[in-house]
Amino acid sequence: MNILGLSGAVGHDCSAALLMDGRLVAAAEEERFIRDKHAKGRQPIEATRFCLETAGLRPDQIDIIAYPYAAIPLTSPARWHYARRNWYAPDRALQAIFTGNRIYHRNIKAVRGMLDDLGFDLQKTSIRAVEHHLAHASSAYHLSGFTEKTAILGVDGRGEYASTFFGYGENGKIHKIKEFYEPDSIGGLYGAITEFLGFEMLDGEFKVMGMAPYGNPSRFDFSRLIKRWPGGFEVDNRMVNTIGLRRYKDDQKGYFFGQGLVDWLGKKRDGDEIDDPYVDYAASVQALLEEVVLELVDYYLGDVLRETGKLAYAGGVALNVKLNQKLIARPDVTELFVQPASGDAGTALGAATFVAEQEQETIQPLEHVYLGPAFSNEKCIAACEQHEQSPAWIKLDNTVAKAADLLAAGNPLAWFQGRMEFGPRALGNRSILGNPTESGVADRINAQIKYRERWRPFCPSISDKIATEIMKSDHPSPYMTFTFDVAEEWKTRIPEVVHEDGTARVQVVTAASNPRYYQLLDAMEQRTGNAVLLNTSLNRRGEPMVCSPEDALNMFYGSDLEYLIMEDILVSKN
Ligand SMILES: [Fe+2]
Repeated sequence: MNILGLSGAVGHDCSAALLMDGRLVAAAEEERFIRDKHAKGRQPIEATRFCLETAGLRPDQIDIIAYPYAAIPLTSPARWHYARRNWYAPDRALQAIFTGNRIYHRNIKAVRGMLDDLGFDLQKTSIRAVEHHLAHASSAYHLSGFTEKTAILGVDGRGEYASTFFGYGENGKIHKIKEFYEPDSIGGLYGAITEFLGFEMLDGEFKVMGMAPYGNPSRFDFSRLIKRWPGGFEVDNRMVNTIGLRRYKDDQKGYFFGQGLVDWLGKKRDGDEIDDPYVDYAASVQALLEEVVLELVDYYLGDVLRETGKLAYAGGVALNVKLNQKLIARPDVTELFVQPASGDAGTALGAATFVAEQEQETIQPLEHVYLGPAFSNEKCIAACEQHEQSPAWIKLDNTVAKAADLLAAGNPLAWFQGRMEFGPRALGNRSILGNPTESGVADRINAQIKYRERWRPFCPSISDKIATEIMKSDHPSPYMTFTFDVAEEWKTRIPEVVHEDGTARVQVVTAASNPRYYQLLDAMEQRTGNAVLLNTSLNRRGEPMVCSPEDALNMFYGSDLEYLIMEDILVSKN
């Protein structure tokens, strides 16, 4: 059976994923094709085309289209909760009761229009709606490979109404234990503070997390933003998760926090520097997130965890690697699986797997995220020949050795190979690489390309041969979804990829997961003594990750990088 999952219902990060007989064969975010980060307000047209092309399928060969956004009945507590808690914005509260599925209907209409344009016959191919949080949950549980009873956690800003999901999976079935609804959203609260700290919600949360270790989490008592009791919480929506007229406004733009927050903490931050007191706010909101989620996990999932120790987790907040480190550190968690595209792009996977399970397909666990387009040497050469900058290129005989030579000499290297990654992390196929042993390489990359905030850490890819030694843990970490404390002796060996607090967000590479990238790590070990690479995504600030050779060349010539390797083609500027 062929199931196409489509995301984008919540207005950002639309994507498509294709499951053939329970096996994930293609997945990609629309932003990569249309070169517009998060592809806000768009439909996954190019991503769907790509999935069909990759599998060699025509639209009429798709059996079911799975959509991660469903109608919520009035019998559910969701719409009533929303109305009661947002009573101060009566239009929105009443909408939730009387026309509470209007966004769903609008979404379905839009997606039907897109499918029509792509040549689908919707008389024959049905669209099946899956609740947003069930899609997140399924993406984590069904792709985890866990066979025993598994605790399932979903935390994001919101889907239809739900923001936080606790459940368990057993024999392929997902059971809900508890859901929380808007405005009671800890992910929303983190997003609101992200906006207050001058970043964009749904994008800048990484930056807040990166800033947090520089601050003091006890200087301000952020617990006043959220009222808690055993098994429950309520967000103070005078301060955060604020809608309607109560929202803070500045230059016509409304924010997801209220005047109450500004009265308490002072004006909203602008700019890129870590400064007082904002750095302490970042530390406080991170600490609050960790505290609240760990407490609720204990309350709702503690029994399952004590039984089997398996936890599957998705939703945008699952990209918070610091919280994930604390989840792994729990004595009752033996293994945590974070679905690597755990933001909303990944709900395309989850909707597809959820429907596959309903159709009694056997779902194969996720093996890797190299699910996007690939380009041959010929295509890379053609892109060079057509490019306006007339790139100087040569074809290499021993690409890995040449790449390692350039890196060992201290050069940042744009590295493009194989199928593009699905999810926000570059895992060695669309990466900018550096030698983390070489002091100053992070600054050099920042200067040449990333122009990212200097306090944000770079992360390492490491060979599985030395992973346990560096991380002091044998927990699997293939997707850069967790941080680990770096062993003391390694902190000085790879200083460029160790964060302020002594942790690193690690990708452990195996020969099976990415053979050529693994060879490159081996080659680095021969030259530097360390089978470790600094690895950051191949893009400039504010742009989506590179997809095609043409994108790579555009990015390369729009930066001060000197070397780009695409498959076996080396492009250099001198
Ligand atoms: Fe979500």
